[in-house]
Amino acid sequence: MKLFSGNSNPQLAGRICEYLNIPMGLANVRRFADQEIFLEILENVRGEDVFVLQSTSFPANDHMMELLIMIDALRRSSAKRITAVLPYFGYARQDRKVGPRTPISAKLVANLITNAGADRVLTLDLHAAQIQGFFDIPTDNLFAVPVLARDVAKYHDTSNTTIVSPDVGGVVRARALAKRIDAPLAIVDKRRDQPGESEVMNIIGNVKGKECILVDDIIDSGGTLCNAAEALLDMGAISVAAYITHGVLSNNASVRVANSKLTELVITDSIQPTREIEQVVNIRVLSIAELVGEAIRRTANEKSVSSLFD
Ligand code: R5P
Repeated sequence: MKLFSGNSNPQLAGRICEYLNIPMGLANVRRFADQEIFLEILENVRGEDVFVLQSTSFPANDHMMELLIMIDALRRSSAKRITAVLPYFGYARQDRKVGPRTPISAKLVANLITNAGADRVLTLDLHAAQIQGFFDIPTDNLFAVPVLARDVAKYHDTSNTTIVSPDVGGVVRARALAKRIDAPLAIVDKRRDQPGESEVMNIIGNVKGKECILVDDIIDSGGTLCNAAEALLDMGAISVAAYITHGVLSNNASVRVANSKLTELVITDSIQPTREIEQVVNIRVLSIAELVGEAIRRTANEKSVSSLFD
């Protein structure tokens, strides 16, 4: 097995190599003067089982092209099997036509990855599980929940904790964590009166006197999370923390979190945190290196990946 990494998340790639006890595959990624990507695989991969790690995070389009070009280079170098490992699968939020004349970008990206030459895909906490069906190649969607649940059990009094989904779409994900720590579930019913205008927040479930933990797949602007935290505190929650798999944290989102009423935001390293994010006192980063590394090992050894979550 060989693991190559694009430029999106070298720290995670390094940790995974350490876990697997293998050296990082040697590749050279450079730019032409006009920023086109030039890539060379610097070692023999003929007949090898190759994994390419790349989160399609900011700058999403550059990282996406890098991934596609790396897969193409590996295919043309006669790798036996290529698995695209996307700890964060960008463009997943456009997974259906939200209005007339809009794209389904998640499907387009799935086609691009497949046509570049990937034989398999390994990803984590897809925005919507059915995106797996956009691929006609085997796709494993890992869940960060075991990693998150261990941390919740370590740092929170689970006997007085309520797990909260910040919107109806995230209920399945939140319920999975609630089940693992044997806690009740509440749901924020987020509605917009008009696009881009005031949000009406109703809370379904009992949060009064509870330590609430919001669970979601993505924090981007931070709006969903910070608004939900305020609504929960207004309804009598004693504290609100959040566990979010993918810390997209665009623009000033980390400042927004720093100034929010959240006691803590815990994200994973599916997206490499910037130095700015690392410096925010109420943001903590958990590593999913062992989880992804073990899934890679099992894929290479043709062993069950789903049993990781039993
Ligand atoms: C939406 O369905 C997602 O699960 C997240 O809730 C959303 O992407 C978060 O975005 P933001 O942080 O910009 O509110």
